[in-house]
Amino acid sequence: MQKVTANELRQKYLDFFKEKKHAIVPSSPVVPENDPTALFINSGMHPLVPYLMGERHPKGKRLASVQKCVRTVDIDEVGDNRHMTFFEMLGNWSLGDYFKDEAIAWSWEFMTDEKWLGLDPKRIYVTVFAGDENAGKDEKSIKLWKEQFKKANIEAGVCELDGKTEKNSRIFLLGACDNWWGPAGETGPCGPCSEIFYDTRPNDGELEGTFNDLVNSFRLMEIWNDVFMEYGKKLKIKSEKLKVVNENLKTKNDQRENQYEYVKLSQQNVDTGMGLERTTAILANKENAFEIEFFIPLFDKISEISGKQYRREENKVAFRIVADHIKAAVFIVADGVEPSNIEQGYVLRRLIRRAIRQGHILGIKENFTVEVAKVVQEIYKDVYPEILNEKVHVELEKEEEKFRETLEKGLRKYKNQKSKIKNQNDNSEIKIITGETVFDLFQTYGFPIEMVKELAKEDGFEVDEKGFNDALEKHQELSRTASAGMFKGGLADTKERTTQLHTAAHLMLAGLRKVLGDHVHQKGSNINGERIRFDFSHPDKMTDEQKKAVEDFVNEAIEAKIDVDLGEMNLEDAKEKAAEGAFENKYGDKVKVYSIEGFSCEICGGPHVKNTGDIQGTFKITKEKSSSSGVRRIKAVLE
Ligand code: SER
Repeated sequence: MQKVTANELRQKYLDFFKEKKHAIVPSSPVVPENDPTALFINSGMHPLVPYLMGERHPKGKRLASVQKCVRTVDIDEVGDNRHMTFFEMLGNWSLGDYFKDEAIAWSWEFMTDEKWLGLDPKRIYVTVFAGDENAGKDEKSIKLWKEQFKKANIEAGVCELDGKTEKNSRIFLLGACDNWWGPAGETGPCGPCSEIFYDTRPNDGELEGTFNDLVNSFRLMEIWNDVFMEYGKKLKIKSEKLKVVNENLKTKNDQRENQYEYVKLSQQNVDTGMGLERTTAILANKENAFEIEFFIPLFDKISEISGKQYRREENKVAFRIVADHIKAAVFIVADGVEPSNIEQGYVLRRLIRRAIRQGHILGIKENFTVEVAKVVQEIYKDVYPEILNEKVHVELEKEEEKFRETLEKGLRKYKNQKSKIKNQNDNSEIKIITGETVFDLFQTYGFPIEMVKELAKEDGFEVDEKGFNDALEKHQELSRTASAGMFKGGLADTKERTTQLHTAAHLMLAGLRKVLGDHVHQKGSNINGERIRFDFSHPDKMTDEQKKAVEDFVNEAIEAKIDVDLGEMNLEDAKEKAAEGAFENKYGDKVKVYSIEGFSCEICGGPHVKNTGDIQGTFKITKEKSSSSGVRRIKAVLE
């Protein structure tokens, strides 16, 4: 096994797949540009969804990338030795090109060949999909893995789903909950997968217990996932009909699941994902993904500020949460999100506040997030220069100020409540923080429920979650949030609506350039089924007349019913055509250009409507304000 740093591993991975004729695509921002069904990019395949569904990618059918990802479903597990909200994923894709044979053979070669990672084949174990009502047992992958193991003189046995094992079991069959991946959002491409694990403690002798026991005790660490994406999860029926169907179904979950079906895609794709941090840990012979070079300078900084040591067991979880959350927050702010009470902004707020609370536990009473953020920037600036964005320090500082003011007050209020409850129920075993108290802490002091739960757990209290949810629901009925309304038209409608708004955004940029001047360029965009949020370079506030002129420009194009043409060309040719494009270098030299004759011409990954007449409604700018120095932000809708 070779000693490889995380930076070297990134490079080796890309070099290997370059040798296998893959084009390298740069990381997309962590906020999806056109997927209203997910808040963050959670895997390498996520920005590639349209291409996995059959659209042509300008760089061809074999791609590889290193993608920055944010996964918040595991947020409560951050602090153990492998879960992180921010991580990087190495991945390679076949868009209807190679399938299982090459994918598995290349995974094996990259892992075991001395020229690449040189991992010990005897320490490798894999899982394969056992089959269910949606797709059959993956016999082909079992056969292919056996062949690979044989290259290292290992006769790999199979352990069936029911636990029946062959001698020397190395191929474990598991069900859909472990071995079916995707989609990244609510709908989209998915399929059976085969995961690769490494034995972190071979000296412990024979593997014992179920596969999940071995993973949970960290003996086996997942490093790579090969997904064979030949299915698409789609909405089954249109939303009008759903109501009747729903009434006949028992639970909310049944209702949700029965709205979907799995269909075979027109092409067989491969999507693989290797966790950069975990694999680096394995290559350094560590069981712990937090003990790699990315975290050491962060822990040193937190130690310097708090005066506490990472190596003391009682401090570890807090150190890891602070480092992980501030890192995630830096990347999220850099990609254009500000703390708020909805959508991505809410997650960001939670991450920052949770980091501050953990810092508080370590005894940090002064503002410190910016100091930690500076270390994050130092570690990643060469690979992701966007994190030097001036907003990072500003937003962290602002949020920390705001939260510190309320943190002390909120903690006092929580402690009062606690002693009241203690006095009232001195003899009672169960001590409950009421839903109203939790809601009050949330509403008045900005304490997320998760934080109250953490405090309560430390004190041996329980939280009345149902009471909190009831109070929250009552409150939300009074003031419907934008995110709650987001899915009201059903997901299919939302996707369609997003596409329409996406084309409207192109027209708007062209309109802005026409009305305000050629200095206007796109600086960021975020579109969901309800609205466009769009940042662009311009020094001054727009006048009402200017806004009206842009609206008229867009509406005129909608009324004119013009075809939206798609062309593929070299970046040079696109520039010659005067195509606008904020992400010019995103796809390297071959790019897609969408043009709307007489109105707009823009480099973009799509998707778009076929004709401007497909855009339903009248375009309207609802807000225009400053975003950062020299950058304005517009919110716009189709009414
Ligand atoms: N999409 C799969 C994963 O995230 C493989 O890239 O694990």
